[in-house]
Amino acid sequence: MTARSVIDSQNIPAHVAIIMDGNGRWAKQRGGLRVFGHQSGVTAVRETVETAAELGVSYLTLYAFSTENWNRPALEVSALMQLLVHTIRQETATLLKNSIRLQAIGDTASLPASCQRELAEAMQLTASGTRMTLVLALSYSGRWDLTQAARRLAYDVASGKVQPAAVTEATLAGYLSTAGIPDPALLIRTSGEQRISNFLLWQLAYTELYITDLLWPDFRRADFEEAIRAYQRRERRFGKTSEQLSVS
Ligand code: FPP
Repeated sequence: MTARSVIDSQNIPAHVAIIMDGNGRWAKQRGGLRVFGHQSGVTAVRETVETAAELGVSYLTLYAFSTENWNRPALEVSALMQLLVHTIRQETATLLKNSIRLQAIGDTASLPASCQRELAEAMQLTASGTRMTLVLALSYSGRWDLTQAARRLAYDVASGKVQPAAVTEATLAGYLSTAGIPDPALLIRTSGEQRISNFLLWQLAYTELYITDLLWPDFRRADFEEAIRAYQRRERRFGKTSEQLSVS
């Protein structure tokens, strides 16, 4: 047996984003309802948040509910919302204890009132957390984000606050829901699908992709660590050549 390579604590991705996929299939394999898969996914969420904080990840973004997920059967949508409320309520104390700040990105105004309330309260309570920021993507999609950014920028251009010729990449990035958050260095997707699925379209431009066949409820600390090791074996070139990187 070969020893697992150690994780280089100097090269931890500052921002890890995760597409938590496969809850439904996991439940089906066990003859259960899809909701059972989502409930079981919470264990993986808890362990992932803990591991990320311990490894020194600064931002962890979880794709918890996409804009497209509203099209799922009403029963599944309401079960997911209840699970969110319940999980946020249950985990806030742990977030506080570990100095983890909770943030949300997405069209959160479209979430049920109870969910918005719970979220606002947890965000307010954890606002001074400095160890890690946990970003929940809720009613989020990359195209929604780019559209709302374009709309707000258009208003500012129309009112004369921003000059069209002065619009740069940084300007647009500042209107995205992730303003102030570094782009993800690593994207993890479970359940083997090789897609971005309308997640952080702008922000993932140079992100390393790590896809595992594991279904989300089975994702554990060792799997997260393996993703970090795989990331550390990659060479991030940002469009440059290897030679350029070795002299810089
Ligand atoms: C995708 O699996 C998963 C979701 C749409 C929801 C993820 C939600 C959780 C893990 C629970 C709560 C999370 C937090 C952050 C409190 P799928 O249903 O698409 O699975 P399938 O592709 O096998 O059908």
